This record gives sequence, structure tokens and C-alpha cells, in this order.
Amino acid sequence: MPTITISEAHQHIGQQVTLQGWLYNKRSSGKILFLQIRDGSGVIQAVLGVSDNPDLFEKASQLPRETSFIVHGRLKEDHRSSIGCELLLEDLEILHQPTEDFPIELKEQTPGFLMDHRHLWIRTGRQVPVLRIRDAAFRAFREFFYQRGFVATEAPILTGTSVEGTTTLFELDYFGVPAYLGQSGQLYLEATAMALGRVYWIGPAFRAEKSKTRKHVTEFWIAEAEMAFYDHKANLELQEDLVRFIVTTVIEEKAAELKELERDVDLLRREVAEPFAHIDYGEAVTLLQELGHEVSFGDDFGAPQEAALGDHFKRPVFIERFPVEMKPFYMKRDPSDPSRVLAADLIAPEGYGEIIGGSQRVDSEADLVAQLKQAGLAVEPYQWYVDLRKYGSVPHSGFGMGLARVITWITGVSHIREVIPFPRQINRLYP
Ligand code: 4AD
Ligand code: MG
Repeated sequence: MPTITISEAHQHIGQQVTLQGWLYNKRSSGKILFLQIRDGSGVIQAVLGVSDNPDLFEKASQLPRETSFIVHGRLKEDHRSSIGCELLLEDLEILHQPTEDFPIELKEQTPGFLMDHRHLWIRTGRQVPVLRIRDAAFRAFREFFYQRGFVATEAPILTGTSVEGTTTLFELDYFGVPAYLGQSGQLYLEATAMALGRVYWIGPAFRAEKSKTRKHVTEFWIAEAEMAFYDHKANLELQEDLVRFIVTTVIEEKAAELKELERDVDLLRREVAEPFAHIDYGEAVTLLQELGHEVSFGDDFGAPQEAALGDHFKRPVFIERFPVEMKPFYMKRDPSDPSRVLAADLIAPEGYGEIIGGSQRVDSEADLVAQLKQAGLAVEPYQWYVDLRKYGSVPHSGFGMGLARVITWITGVSHIREVIPFPRQINRLYP
């Protein structure tokens, strides 16, 4: 009898098989027992009539949810099942029977309770398809760059300087000197791009951000790329190709999971079918004012403004050319208007907010030193970064994507905490 996973069951219809898993749920009519069995790869219904095997019926009827076991039976075709078959139960060996009721019920529970039990919550309901989609999104991100000949690299997590402003740094004691958890690998990727040409990485990023929104966590995996000889325009073209590739690949590979989540896949497909929208920051301010928002030139857009832009364009939109004062020290100024930077934020539709921040980087040593000073930063700790402009500086660009935000958009879930196995928020360090 082969031991198989539930995802392989449809290939074994008519055969006797062994499955290893957990009892997800059960119901009984008194005469027929239905066990929902999960193994991580899927859920299958096992069926047993009381007259088929009264002892087994009695034993299986007593099992609490999340009992772990090995089951044997024959697979029978069943067109009503989403996996195309069910198991006619013949035998069951218990591995471990819970001594207390499983705390996660298969009905609504409060988000606070669910988050307190995140280690158990992830076994249930939408959490499983969401985390499988997360895997596919990570794979698609890497596949995109692999296909284009980029070199995968890494940036350190322990750093001596800030990249995205000093207000969101997690500081720690590094053998007597202050160190910070990395906010972004960008500065290191710029150096690596001067060695390898086109590079990317995906790794942890930390922001001591006091935001309690549905888009912010204090730890997330940032997906970044840096390209020598790319200008602002080429940078945006690459971002657009990347986002479209991730969305369409996940739609194709994870159709069953998206269906389980009841995601409107046609809408998602339409959103990335057309070229993405572009709007100048100043024009975005005017548009938002026309739409009734109280914003002025120089303001950061909040969630309502980002949602309004998404609703207006109904597809991802690049907001381009921000005022210098709104952005970090490393961005290149627009030669046609030095009060603006050659940067863009990419806003996802349906209110999912900013998914990418990117820019062309300042490439002259004098400009960089001046911009560091304007940002109130000491030049010395950044001298290694300034050096990149000393020895064969080239135009270059890059970007950073919050992959968790992209996954939130793809899955259509309402909060970023649901797409991260163990999210870190300002009030949450456990489990
Ligand atoms: O816009 P950000 O801050 O840009 C940078 O870090 C650049 N150094 C990236 C680069 O050019 N290489 O962050 C990039 C993206 C944002 O667009 C957002 O999607 C995500 O990272 N992000 C967060 N995601 C979840 N929680 C947070 N607190 C986030 N902060 C940023
Ligand atoms: Mg940003």
C-alpha cells in the first residue's frame, strides 16, 4: 500500500493507499462518519459506515480535532470533491490524541485571539492556502531575476548606518558600539551592482515604525534589485514586468488556492493586463484635491489617498518625481527640475497601497556628499558608500518591494499579518 500525500490522491483512484495527517473536522449522521483529514498538501474526506466496521466507527467517532494519525483505505472517485476523490476508510492508527480541545474553532474568532494562537491558527482555514501562495510568490520573484540573468546576492542585517531615515531604526549594542537592524539592503546592493552588474536579494528588513495599519509590520522580507547602467525609465519598466510576472505566475500556479480564498481572479488578471498607469506627484496632488481629499503639495499620501488613486486608475500606478524634501538622501535629482527626484512609488489597486519604492541613485560624489549633509547625516559612516562614486561611477537604479504587501493584494486578505507566518507588530512579539 503506497504512502501518499493528499495532493497525490487523484493519481491513485481505485487503489488502496496510506495517508498521514491530522483530523481537521468530523461529522456523523449516526450511521455514516465523515472525517476531514488534512496533511498540509490538502484536505480529503474519509468516509466510514457503521455497518462496515463497528469497532473502527466507534474509535474514529471519539477522536478530537487535530488528532494525528495514519489512515488506510481505498480512494474512490467523487466529482463533488474539489480534489476529485474521497477515501473509504479501512483502518486508522492514532499517533497522538490531543488531551484538550483545539482552541481554534472553525467559525469566527476575534483577531486578537487568533493572533495569540498564531502557531495553531496557521493550520486552519484560509491560512494554509495563503501561506502556499506566499511560497509561490517568493519563487516567482526569484525566477523572474534568474530568467533575466541577475545575480542573487545578500546584504547584512547588522548595519552601522541608516538608509531609510533615522526615526525607524532598531538599535542594539554591538560590542560597545551602536548598531542597527537593516531597514533595506539597498546601499550594499549598490556596491554589489558595481561588482556584478545586475543583482537582487530578498531578506529581512526592520522598521521601528509606530504604525498600526493593516499594511505595516516591524519585520518583513524586502525584495530588492539594483542595476548598473539603468536609468529611471528602465527601472520602472523592470518593476512593471516583475509585478506582472509575479501576479500572473501565482494566478497560474495557485488557481486552487485562490479559488479557496474566493479571490476575484479575473479582476486581478485585468489589473495587470494593461500597461501600468503613471502620474507625476504634483498631478496626483491635484487629482486627489479634485476627488475631495485635503492634501497639499509636499504631503505624504496616506491609505485613503493611495486607495483613491488605485480606484481611479483600476490598475497599479507609479507616482513619479517626488519633491526632494519627501525622500531619502540617495536619490538622483531630476536634471530638468532639481526640486524633484527621479523616484517612483508603485501603488497597488483595491487599496493595497505602496508595494514598491525605487529611484535612480545619485551618481556624483559632490552631489551625494551635499545631499547627505542636507539630510543631517554625518558623511564619515557613509564614506564607503561615497567611494562608489569615486571609482568609475555609473548611472544606476534600483527598487525595493514589500512582497508581503503584494501577497496581501494577490490573496485579497484584509491584513498583512495574515500573509506572514509569524508577523511582528509593535504590540506583538509572541508567538
Ligand atoms: O519604500 P521603502 O522604504 O524603500 C526602501 O527601503 C528602498 N531603500 C528600497 C530600494 O530602493 N532598494 O520600502 C520598500 C517597500 C515599500 O514600498 C513597501 O512595499 C515595503 O517595502 N515596506 C513595508 N512593508 C511592510 N511593513 C512595513 N513597515 C514596510 N515598510 C516598507
Ligand atoms: Mg516608500
